[in-house]
Amino acid sequence: MRYISTKKSLHEINAEATIIFVVKQNLKHHWIEDKKTLKNLDFKDGSVVLLPESMNVYVACESVESEELRLAAARAYEKLKQTNCKSAKIGIYIDKCPYASIKALIEGFELSSYNFDRFKSKKTPQKLKTLYVSLEEVNKKGVDFQTLKQAVKDGKILADSTNLAKDVINTPPEDFTPIHMANEAMKLAKLENVTCKVYDEKFLKKEKMNSFLAVNRASVYPPRLIHLTYKPKDAKKRVIFVGKGLTYDSGGLSLKPSQAMVSMKADKSGAAAVLGIIDAVAKLKLPLEVHGIIGSTENMIGGDAYKPDDVLKSRNGITIEVKNTDAEGRLVLCDCLDYAQDFKPDYMVDLATLTGACVVALGEYTSGILGVNEQLQKEFYEASKRSGELTTPLYSNRYLEKSLKSNVADICNISNSRYGGAITAGIFLSRFVKDKYKDSWLHLDIAGPAFIDKPWGYAQSGASGAGVRMCISWLRTLMTKEK
Ligand code: BES
Ligand code: ZN
Ligand code: ZN
Repeated sequence: MRYISTKKSLHEINAEATIIFVVKQNLKHHWIEDKKTLKNLDFKDGSVVLLPESMNVYVACESVESEELRLAAARAYEKLKQTNCKSAKIGIYIDKCPYASIKALIEGFELSSYNFDRFKSKKTPQKLKTLYVSLEEVNKKGVDFQTLKQAVKDGKILADSTNLAKDVINTPPEDFTPIHMANEAMKLAKLENVTCKVYDEKFLKKEKMNSFLAVNRASVYPPRLIHLTYKPKDAKKRVIFVGKGLTYDSGGLSLKPSQAMVSMKADKSGAAAVLGIIDAVAKLKLPLEVHGIIGSTENMIGGDAYKPDDVLKSRNGITIEVKNTDAEGRLVLCDCLDYAQDFKPDYMVDLATLTGACVVALGEYTSGILGVNEQLQKEFYEASKRSGELTTPLYSNRYLEKSLKSNVADICNISNSRYGGAITAGIFLSRFVKDKYKDSWLHLDIAGPAFIDKPWGYAQSGASGAGVRMCISWLRTLMTKEK
């Protein structure tokens, strides 16, 4: 959709429909021309109505807090989707920060307008093409026009980058192999200050990334290690994101049951988020050096599949006893994390659909924030809250730390307990983070929200693009943070 910021009042703009949020059921506002009708329709919390005479869309809104605005925008979009309107207009609603409120509003529209119909014979083209955003604020708060324009622009960038991640994730495994992942990353190198390097299995062998290579062995598609770099001139810090890019996870020889295998095309969601993050930081021109490292492969079965009982030697020399080939994400990530540390990050964050245990623990809407630095986990949590993405820090302890002991190797790829699987997966990864980087590392388990069964708010069923918005929100905090 095209968003046009304008200094005109809501009344002065020419558009086919007008969107009005009814805040806290207050029908007395001068934007609300249809007070009587709304009363007769018993307009209340949760209501959305389109009045055909006036072509006004009224959306009930509990507050003007950012997430409420995203949700209200989504409901307005859903309503307008059912009409033939090509243009609509809206005023602005400011909570504390004008930039954040306006950005959230645009995110709500753009995220909810996402539709994945690549494989449908009958496409559903978007009818609503233009949204005019007026500088007029619901409570007559004065907002700078430059702020309006910037927030509209940035909101669209964030939603587009999130939608890019959704496209990657929704694409079926046969149409999206590690080579496609590399091609997708290469496309980002067209952006200013972005470069991309793609490495094949020969490089992985040379680098002794045997753990990563073992996961790939039974796949007919070769693996790829992808290294994207966004390096602006004024970069203040270097942040490296590492993404799990399993284009399919069958579980390997520890095969998943049929039902659990459905949707495992989404096991590339960490990598997709990394692509979205690089796309966003480059377009937002953030003054940070941001790397995106992706380990991409399938986890399949076959005569040459890696097996439970195998012992793998990872890039940093740690030996790993395989007890379950379905715990493959950590085997790819451990080598990628080790590689990432060669580039001396100020911060390193990995994103992965790593464990079903994280979904059991937190539910399907929330990502887990793991690591060894509880303060950093908390800071990430606060930043993610502002983005609208749901997260919860998960803290480790000395007892769980012991659960990865192996009799034959340095470490086992699964825990000896059925409990606390999200945390023990994080502990496994932490062993591959060198002491000097431990305090600046986070692991985000996005297994829950990455792929959605039941649509909610501005998220359709299928990929959600989890990770992109929360990481950008956190990156912004680093721009001013002393370290
Ligand atoms: N990709 C899965 C995790 C997953 C599960 C993502 C459900 C999204 C939804 C991961 O590779 C996996 O299979 N993990 C195992 C680990 C276990 C064997 C220790 C799991 O969670 O069952
Ligand atoms: Zn698995
Ligand atoms: Zn997996």
